[in-house]
Amino acid sequence: MVLLTGGSGQLGRCLLDRMPSAWQVVAPSRHDLDISNAPAVHSVVQALRPALIINAAAYTGVDQAEDDVEAAYDINAHGAQNLAQAAARVDAGMLHVSTDYVFDGSADRPYTETDATEPLNIYGRSKLEGETAVLQALPQAVIVRSSWLFSEYGQNFVRTMLRLAANGVGQLRVVDDQLGFPTYGGDLADVLIALASHMPNVAPGVYHYCGAGDETRPVSWCEFAQAVFNCAGQVSPSLQWPVLLPVSSSDYPTAATRPVFSALSCKKLASVELGNGQGLSPLLHRTWRAALPRVVRQLLARR
Ligand SMILES: NC(=O)c1ccc[n+]([C@@H]2O[C@H](COP(=O)([O-])OP(=O)(O)OC[C@H]3O[C@@H](n4cnc5c(N)ncnc54)[C@H](OP(=O)(O)O)[C@@H]3O)[C@@H](O)[C@H]2O)c1
Repeated sequence: MVLLTGGSGQLGRCLLDRMPSAWQVVAPSRHDLDISNAPAVHSVVQALRPALIINAAAYTGVDQAEDDVEAAYDINAHGAQNLAQAAARVDAGMLHVSTDYVFDGSADRPYTETDATEPLNIYGRSKLEGETAVLQALPQAVIVRSSWLFSEYGQNFVRTMLRLAANGVGQLRVVDDQLGFPTYGGDLADVLIALASHMPNVAPGVYHYCGAGDETRPVSWCEFAQAVFNCAGQVSPSLQWPVLLPVSSSDYPTAATRPVFSALSCKKLASVELGNGQGLSPLLHRTWRAALPRVVRQLLARR
């Protein structure tokens, strides 16, 4: 039995699409289980007694969090803590998801799990506090940090770019001095499911997963947008796609400061042995570029 929180979010929906049919999965909505409500979390977990909790629930509005500090901490820090404490009481495992925004962006090579964290915004601080609280309450928990999620579901950068294009925007200013690795939600979901399936063999602690595949060069948001429109152009060659104007972060002020560099290194995950000599290697070769055309096609088909 797996308790999945955040099942209506983009990662949650990718997980639900891919979970093995033999698993008994309970995915309460936020209305049915608000993770920031500690008594509710404890009573649901006591009643279900899941073998594993996967927490895909989060407050993900990076800019909104700057003004909505309490809600961000309630969900990302205390909500994660509530789940870990409840898991500890029933001896359940926990897979928790975190973010590249725990880093300040000053690195000049992809971040490893042992690099110092220094979040620049409330979202990153609340997620980091969640990580610490989870491992304190449940030292055997596994935390996977990921970056720049996109998928056919929910709100994400790919969908935003396609929506702006559909609204007839001729030119688009997109930030070109923040670098990272996009990650397809379905690929992250597959990695989480592989880890969940072999939890006893996975050493507890923090891991990084992003859609780098074999690529070593992260991309900017503007390059990501260009890749989106290249895919869209192949699906609908007759349509006029926007011209991209690269701008710097200072030309595009946002409420939350974002790291200029948040590429993650997946090396630690590559060394995980799942048992029977199996590793995660095939999943780690997947790149965001391979998933993007499919996601763009699906999003355009829905319009
Ligand atoms: N999106 C990214 O680019 C990105 C990058 C790196 C890491 N991550 C991490 O990846 C994970 C999944 O992100 P995502 O993009 O899938 O997020 P998302 O699409 O915003 O989904 C968030 C989910 O959390 C649920 N939720 C919010 N508050 C809740 C509460 N108090 N109690 C229970 N459920 C609650 C939401 O329910 P409702 O639908 O009912 O609101 C929704 O199902 C998060 O941990 C996030 O920090 C995301």
